[in-house]
This record gives sequence, C-alpha cells and structure tokens, in this order.
Amino acid sequence: MHILGIDVGGTGIKAAVVDTTTGKLLTERTRTATPQPATPKAIGKALKTILEQHQWSKEPIGMGFPAAIQKGIARTAANIDPSFIDYPVAEYFSKQTGCTVHVANDADVAGLAEIRFGAGKGFTGVVLIVTIGTGLGTALFSNGHLLPNTELGHVMLDNGFEAERYASESVRVLNNLKWGEWGPRFNHYLTTMESLLWPDLIVLGGGISRELHKFAPLITTKAPVIAADFLNQAGIVGAALFAEEQLRLTA
Ligand code: BGC
Repeated sequence: MHILGIDVGGTGIKAAVVDTTTGKLLTERTRTATPQPATPKAIGKALKTILEQHQWSKEPIGMGFPAAIQKGIARTAANIDPSFIDYPVAEYFSKQTGCTVHVANDADVAGLAEIRFGAGKGFTGVVLIVTIGTGLGTALFSNGHLLPNTELGHVMLDNGFEAERYASESVRVLNNLKWGEWGPRFNHYLTTMESLLWPDLIVLGGGISRELHKFAPLITTKAPVIAADFLNQAGIVGAALFAEEQLRLTA
C-alpha cells in the first residue's frame, strides 16, 4: 500500500509517501516548521500545504503525534499547544484534510518502523526505543508487540529533573552542551530506564542517533544500545505502517 506518512514533532513536521510493503519512501521527504503556537488550527493549515506538496488527496494518512493518543484523542501536550489535551486529533485532521487520518504517538510509530523493517527486525525479547528530539519519546516492544503510550521521557530522575528536561536534544542544543557533558546525562536516563524495565535491546532514534559514536563510550547499560536504521525518518515510515495496520483491522 502507498500511504502518506506524517511525523508531527515539536519543531518540525516531516512527511513522505511510504510503500508499506518495503518501508521505503516513494516521494522526497518534506520538512515544514511546526507552527508556533502549535494549535490544532495552525497544524491543520500546515497539513493542507503538505498534502499539496505530495499531491495527496482523499487517500488515508498515517500520523505520528507527540502526545499519548487513545483512539485518536490526544491526552497529553508537553511540546505542543495545551489545547490538544483531550482533543479529537484524528477526527479534526481528517475533517481538515478530507482524508482519513490515523494518529498514534510519534515514538510508538517510529518504533513500529524499526521493529518491522529496521534495527529491531526479527528481535525476540524486550526492545526499548528512545527517540531523542525536542522531547524524549519512548516505545516498548515485547517479542514485536507494542505496549502503546509509554511516556517515559517524563520520568523523574533521582537528581530531581524530569528526564526530557535534562537529557533531550533540545536541552543539549539550548545549553550548548558538549558530548562529554550531555553523554553522562543521557546515560543517567538510560541506566534509570534499564533499572526499571530491563530491556534486551535499546534503539535510539531521532537525528542525534547519527552521532551515536560520539557518546556511545559514555553509555554504561548492560543492554546493547544501537542507532535506529531509519534515523529520523522512522516516524514517517512508522506512521504509514500504523495507518495500514488500522485499515487492515477495520477492513
Ligand atoms: C511527549 C511524548 C512524545 C515525546 C517525543 C514527549 O514530550 O510527551 O508523547 O512521544 O515527547 O516527541
């Protein structure tokens, strides 16, 4: 199936048409700045432009969204406008675009892409995927099955910091942290996650996963830590895979 995958992030909205049988992008990836404030109306408007860019109409869309999502409804809003809390995101964006929009948490869909076609393919056991960006997103899989909406970027660390306010990419950039400074912070986060979940494999996503070699020596978890295969395209691919899965379930 060919599905438009859209990854809504705290700072950018990325999109491409995806072939869900291979996980490959069929159109050039586009990136639009997330409107600020990131209200439903402003994002809805940005979506219309994205649809035009990809010449997409009336066909299904998959969307990764930076919030816990229950049946198309957003429940949290850490890096988007608070008006999204309890907002029917899927219904509203479907109305705005004229396409059926299937929405799930951004880290969960990025994880789907990695488990289906990427770094976690064929892996049995528990896999924790951490996406490092404006926030810290998490996806947890056991033998390929997702436990949706884990919001483990909001865990309080034993130093009193909320994890994503201490070890996200935006914190690194904002505070101009060197790898030797940010690396131990991120390791603090990963070792905390390990002590709570004991994953067999940890996969890191987001643009920063390309730089893993720069901070890998500072990571001390027992579980191996590897970079996502799809790097920062996992969200787009996974969003399309999620939509396909939903279409299959309702067929
Ligand atoms: C949100 C999560 C999201 C993550 C990455 C967090 O602030 O609460 O839902 O997955 O950021 O975007």
